[in-house]
Amino acid sequence: MQSERDAKDRQLDAHRVPLDDRTMTTDQGSPVDDTDNSLKAGTRGPTLMEDFHFREKITRFDHERIPERVVHARGAGAYGVFELYEPLGDLTSAAFLNDTSVKTPTFVRFSTVAGSRGSADTVRDVRGFATKFYTTQGNFDIVGNNFPVFFIQDGIKFPDFVHAVKPEPHNEIPQAQSAHDTFWDFVQLQPESLHMIMWLMSDRAIPRSFRMMQGFGVHTFRLVNAAGQGTFVKWHWRPVLGTYSLVWDEVLRVQGNDPDFNRRDLWEAIERGAYPEYELCVQLVPESREHDFDFDLLDATKIIPEEQVPLRPIGKMTLNRNPQNFFAETEQVAFHTANLVPGVDFTNDPLLQARNFSYLDTQLLRLGGPNFPQIPVNRPVNEVRNDQRDGFHQHQIHESRTSYAPNSISGGCPAARDGYQHYQEKVEGTKIRMRSPSFQDHYSQATLFWNSMAGWEKRHIVEAFLFELGHVERRPIKEGVVRHLGAIHPDLAGRVAEGLGLPVPIPGQVHTNASPALSMTNQPRSVATR
Ligand code: HEM
Repeated sequence: MQSERDAKDRQLDAHRVPLDDRTMTTDQGSPVDDTDNSLKAGTRGPTLMEDFHFREKITRFDHERIPERVVHARGAGAYGVFELYEPLGDLTSAAFLNDTSVKTPTFVRFSTVAGSRGSADTVRDVRGFATKFYTTQGNFDIVGNNFPVFFIQDGIKFPDFVHAVKPEPHNEIPQAQSAHDTFWDFVQLQPESLHMIMWLMSDRAIPRSFRMMQGFGVHTFRLVNAAGQGTFVKWHWRPVLGTYSLVWDEVLRVQGNDPDFNRRDLWEAIERGAYPEYELCVQLVPESREHDFDFDLLDATKIIPEEQVPLRPIGKMTLNRNPQNFFAETEQVAFHTANLVPGVDFTNDPLLQARNFSYLDTQLLRLGGPNFPQIPVNRPVNEVRNDQRDGFHQHQIHESRTSYAPNSISGGCPAARDGYQHYQEKVEGTKIRMRSPSFQDHYSQATLFWNSMAGWEKRHIVEAFLFELGHVERRPIKEGVVRHLGAIHPDLAGRVAEGLGLPVPIPGQVHTNASPALSMTNQPRSVATR
């Protein structure tokens, strides 16, 4: 553990239970004389209800489990610190992005998406990369993944998508694998997923280590400066060690030998002082350039090619401390896309808008009511003051006799003059469910991804399709997927069709609603595992 204690660590000290006094008590503090033998009526008689220690011990055990996260259930966390390279006052008023002398404490949780809490680490899956910055203006979360795009464009499809990805409902098979009919049925019926599927079938979906994995905020967000001027931003985490993956043969062996492969690697690296480091980079788009692209910045199935908007490194995060208790910290941490600080705002990305509702809603259930922000790992390091009150698990003892505003009795909690202001975006339109036409282009960037791959990477992608689709029982689903692959690239479709013993789609006969291919200058940089 690093010697320099940050603001979050000092705050957590108040909640730590020292190890020195081990005398056992009940939850009410009464000393316990025997925790091995229940109280009985005679040596051969029944156990007595009045044994309050026995009842408390069993009851507490019965209530140990809370619901696991509905997605991203399997995770590993670490504390860290974020250091800014240069003040960004021209772009944002966020305090932690303006003062290079401040070391902002962070907590990161890496996760797989589909598997349950007890599943293996090294499955083919997306990885979560969620970061909480404990800033002087409150908590700011980047709740990202290790891929820069997502499966769907609108959050209203998320329950359908997750139900298709999770094990099938009748037999809970397969656990944490995309090799099944419901998943591929969703893919063939929702071609907006295809760009993400290309990433998922690549080696990026089997990272070698959380220390060697990129992170992406995925959506376009907005930075807002003190003058109220907005700039679009995409968040990127770049691991200082570089990006590395396992290959499939390694995965098969590693999973059997050590299902905790990734979390053990993270824990042990931090214990031995090999602190993982990630540069935070941004892609910035001035508002005047919002419509300069042949895709919509609000479409989370599209990247902004780095050739068009290069990455600018703005700071570095170092993970330097393991949690002390997995449940208290890693399991109870609650990230939320709507945890914002002044100077950062959303856009109207329809996937993001749904997330802004979903995370708080699920955490109210998962963490037992509205007071979960008081759990130590979730508490901001600055003081929390407002008129919210009561609810399950209230830990604060508010001294005020009033809890409303405005308030002439105690003064109450007046709103801050420099408080969070939502970006003043002009919005008008007819209520409709459609998005801009470029949301219908499901293939161009999937093609760019395929074209950017080296020969061996293409081979791994083809092999992944063959493995995953090889487990699909229904032939029409396989044929449907292969038809879509034909719209991505005939070479890809041909190799997959041949391997599966299916008819090769005839070029030109493949239905595609793709817009004309993007120019070569739009090509994403090779995402080859390095
Ligand atoms: C959890 C990322 C889309 C709902 C998570 C976590 C990550 C993540 C990293 C794990 C957080 C943790 O470690 O505790 C993403 C990304 C998305 C996306 C990058 C798309 C770009 C969505 C959508 C919804 C959603 C569209 C719903 C409409 C949830 C829920 C959880 C979750 C309910 C569990 C949260 C909890 O129990 O604390 N997501 N997600 N996600 N996500 Fe998403």
